[in-house]
Amino acid sequence: MSSALPFFPKQIEHYVTETVTRETQVQKRLREETSKLSMARMQTTPDQVAFLAMLVRLTGAKYIIEIGTFTGYSALAMASALPEDGKLIACDTSKEWTDIAQRYWKEAGVADRIELHLSPAAETLAGFVKAGAHFDMAFIDADKAGYDAYYEACLHLMKPGGLIAFDNMLWSGAVADNNEQDSNTVALRALNLKIHQDRRVDSCMLTVADGIMLARKR
Ligand SMILES: C[S@@+](CC[C@H](N)C(=O)[O-])C[C@H]1O[C@@H](n2cnc3c(N)ncnc32)[C@H](O)[C@@H]1O
Repeated sequence: MSSALPFFPKQIEHYVTETVTRETQVQKRLREETSKLSMARMQTTPDQVAFLAMLVRLTGAKYIIEIGTFTGYSALAMASALPEDGKLIACDTSKEWTDIAQRYWKEAGVADRIELHLSPAAETLAGFVKAGAHFDMAFIDADKAGYDAYYEACLHLMKPGGLIAFDNMLWSGAVADNNEQDSNTVALRALNLKIHQDRRVDSCMLTVADGIMLARKR
């Protein structure tokens, strides 16, 4: 989820989105359809998904797992950057939202690279751990209370050198304000600190969109 570029003036956001970020016609139409939904603010932003797609290309990722798919905007960008025999596992619980996603994935010609799992992400992840599956990259963008458990499961699933990207790790800046004590803020603040101290990964925080944390498994 990203409240569109919360740290940037509107003029810069408009310039980044409309002038310098590449977006296909299918991506644009999906973004515009999603923008009419009541939960539109959950959608990732064009610059953010361009960055995720660049990560897929830079790392040469072939197998990706996404936790939190919504209407499929980030999955579409990442799947489009995969090699033809690559696979993206998309995890969500909403049939309504992922029905929209599947329409656009098909239109973009990447539906065969995306496998949708409609059940609570903790269950889907546990199934992959049990099956001994391995991934090159993960994108975590679902319920914030679940992030720590998703991190642990994804760490298990990553090959050495595998990359885990987390959205919303600045939570509109609330994590930096100790007066903010709602459960999502507390969970994300604790996870930022945990990753910072975690010797199992190399990490860096990007002030892109609502804060993207990258953790690379050692
Ligand atoms: C912020 S949105 C994802 C946005 C998406 N990555 C995009 O590019 O637009 C969060 C999604 O997580 C899903 N979600 C929430 N709790 C979940 C859970 N326990 N398991 C799986 N998906 C969950 C919601 O249904 C919602 O679609």
